[in-house]
Amino acid sequence: MKSMPKIELHLHLEGAAPPAFIRGLAQEKHMDLSGLFNPDGSYRFTDFWDFLKVYEAATSTLQTPEDYRRLTLAVLEESAANGVVYSETFLSPDFCGGRDVGAWKEYLHAIRDAADQAERQMGITLRGIITCIRHFGPDKARETAVCAAETAGDWITGFGIAGDEKVLQPKDFLWAFDCAREAGLRITAHAGEWGGPESVRAALHDLNPERIGHGVRAIEDLALVDELAERGTVLEVCPGSNVALGIWPTFRAHPIGKLFDRGVKVTVSTDDPPFFHTTMAREYDMLSDAFDWDDSVFATLNRTALDAAFCDTDTRSKIAKRLEAANA
Ligand code: ADE
Ligand code: ZN
Repeated sequence: MKSMPKIELHLHLEGAAPPAFIRGLAQEKHMDLSGLFNPDGSYRFTDFWDFLKVYEAATSTLQTPEDYRRLTLAVLEESAANGVVYSETFLSPDFCGGRDVGAWKEYLHAIRDAADQAERQMGITLRGIITCIRHFGPDKARETAVCAAETAGDWITGFGIAGDEKVLQPKDFLWAFDCAREAGLRITAHAGEWGGPESVRAALHDLNPERIGHGVRAIEDLALVDELAERGTVLEVCPGSNVALGIWPTFRAHPIGKLFDRGVKVTVSTDDPPFFHTTMAREYDMLSDAFDWDDSVFATLNRTALDAAFCDTDTRSKIAKRLEAANA
């Protein structure tokens, strides 16, 4: 389903780095990262926590704004080839200048420059969501939020939290989220991937996000599923990521179908596509096979995603026309 126009809301920029791109940077910088890769060149990790380590080690090759400019172009080229017309990407000042506001602005300038070029050349629109990283702790999250507040606007439009859901609690990050919200940023939070319904509830009630990254383990508590449906909270579901990391064995066993049928606003994204051997086109193909979903279901999911996108109304209308033209 490469040609269907798609909206992607949940994509970690470093996690979208092709392994060959990271190997190339490592070579240029004389870094030995051979332990991060399988003999076939793919990323090597054993479980989610090992994945986080490999992710951070791969990211250590990205050391300058120019590295991020090249990365952004490479990622958007792959997204556009999969039919993505609008994407939101998670950006971490932790990795882009060590949370120094001045350095972060230089990285952001380079990323935006690449995004502008991709929009002109490939017709894909990108917006940024700044994320703090849960296992880096609340102090670093505060500094990240200050970077976010300083660059909030029509391009940096959201704030979120990623990382290891098993450490600390959403309420430990309240200062960072309040700071981001006061700067006008819209809120999403990873929860319900490695934590169960209690983790989704904590994120929902303590951070009041419009969207939840993953959220899928809400399925273990149907009262919570109904609450998500009633609140209209949008789930950024990444089925291929969940299957690759072993939360569910197959797409068919994944709860996205049940959540959709029960009225939850679900959307589809890839999370960290090369790590999980996936693309947006593959996600659609696998979902279509698993749940017998046709183009009209995917059109609904894309409309839900566009309605939940953190962009301004002009951008939304422009992208809506592209979806409508394809569905006509
Ligand atoms: N960072 C990158 N990918 C992630 C995921 N799937 N969960 C939490 N943090 C992440
Ligand atoms: Zn994620």
